[in-house]
Amino acid sequence: MRITIREEEENDSIQIYDVNKLAFQQENEGKLIERIRKGENFIPELSIVAELDNRIVGHILFSKIKIVGDSDYESLALAPMAVIPEFQKKGIGSELIKSGINKAKELGFDSIIVIGHKEYYPKFGFQIASRWDIKCPFEVPDEVFMAIELTEKALEGKAGNVEYPDEFNEV
Ligand SMILES: CC(C)(COP(=O)(O)OP(=O)(O)OC[C@H]1O[C@@H](n2cnc3c(N)ncnc32)[C@H](O)[C@@H]1OP(=O)(O)O)[C@@H](O)C(=O)NCCC(=O)NCCS
Repeated sequence: MRITIREEEENDSIQIYDVNKLAFQQENEGKLIERIRKGENFIPELSIVAELDNRIVGHILFSKIKIVGDSDYESLALAPMAVIPEFQKKGIGSELIKSGINKAKELGFDSIIVIGHKEYYPKFGFQIASRWDIKCPFEVPDEVFMAIELTEKALEGKAGNVEYPDEFNEV
């Protein structure tokens, strides 16, 4: 299986919407991506697709968010990520995350926040965000709200509340 991991291109948006619809069995995540894409927190290099035989089978998006503590700290939200069910558990999701982490580092971001499966993200270095006293604005169990430092000690002293932009509140 030859998977290509690459940045989203202009004509990919319908396929990305469909990948999310299939993976989540609803349209909320596809709509979230469309809202983020139109807004100021979108980073084109961090909308990444996995392609197999010219078909998009997976997608991951990282967009700008803030941690509001003693001052405002820029971070990234990993959301959403999706792989079409029949292509799951083949390592495609892992490739998307690793590639996104590398690109985020390259672009100079120093942390990523995710709300997600507690068994999945720690494999890539994510830890429970409460470890840094970083709080989630949504009511979710502590262990699903995670963060990763992309540079050493990037989150130390950045205790605060994560502010998701309005795009997220409409989900
Ligand atoms: C979460 C999601 C994106 C993961 O994508 P994926 O491509 O299945 O991820 P991976 O293949 O990298 O890893 C999934 C599992 O397969 C295992 N795996 C990886 N490569 C494998 C391979 N070659 N053969 C068999 N299993 C493999 C991984 O170890 C992992 O194991 P786990 O079940 O113990 O965690 C996908 O399941 C999905 O779209 N889910 C629905 C939407 C969703 O929940 N999104 C995330 C919201 S937080």
